[in-house]
This record gives sequence, C-alpha cells and structure tokens, in this order.
Amino acid sequence: MSKDQSTTVTVCVGSSCHIKGARNVIMRFNELLKKHGLDGKIELKGSFCMERCGEGVNWQIDEKPLTSSSVEDAVKSFEEMIIKPAKGQM
Ligand code: FES
Repeated sequence: MSKDQSTTVTVCVGSSCHIKGARNVIMRFNELLKKHGLDGKIELKGSFCMERCGEGVNWQIDEKPLTSSSVEDAVKSFEEMIIKPAKGQM
C-alpha cells in the first residue's frame, strides 16, 4: 500500500455473507476508520455476491480476496492489514 494510492475495502453483502454478519462487519470497519481518522482515506463499499459463498464473510482489500470466519475475525484482519499500516504511514 503506497502513500498516495487510496485503498478500497469491499465487503460482500450478498445473502450468504449477510447471514454471517456482513452488515456488522461494515459497521465495525466504519467505526474503526472513523476512530482512527481514516474515513477519508480508505473507501468502504458493499458489493453483490462475490461467488465465494459458504466460506464465511467474504471481503476484499482492493483486488485481494479475503474470507473471515466471524465478525471478530474480520475486524482483527482489518486492524492488521488496514489500520496498522495506515497509521504507520502518517
Ligand atoms: S453472498 Fe457473499 S460471496 Fe456470495
């Protein structure tokens, strides 16, 4: 992740991921971005089914596909892969 390049985080909100907590994942990601003053820097989007249903909550950082087994798991990965590196750059 370079300094000027903005990052997009996309969370699948298709029905399978929705049942597994995708909406909560988006809410938690959003809270974290706000808390760390990154809401203008990281774009957070929802998407239709990513065709990886059944594996957990599916999401991606730019083009990198990720699957989290729970909301907490997603939050942990988000902190590691988005929040920490972004804070390190400031
Ligand atoms: S509903 Fe999320 S991958 Fe299909």
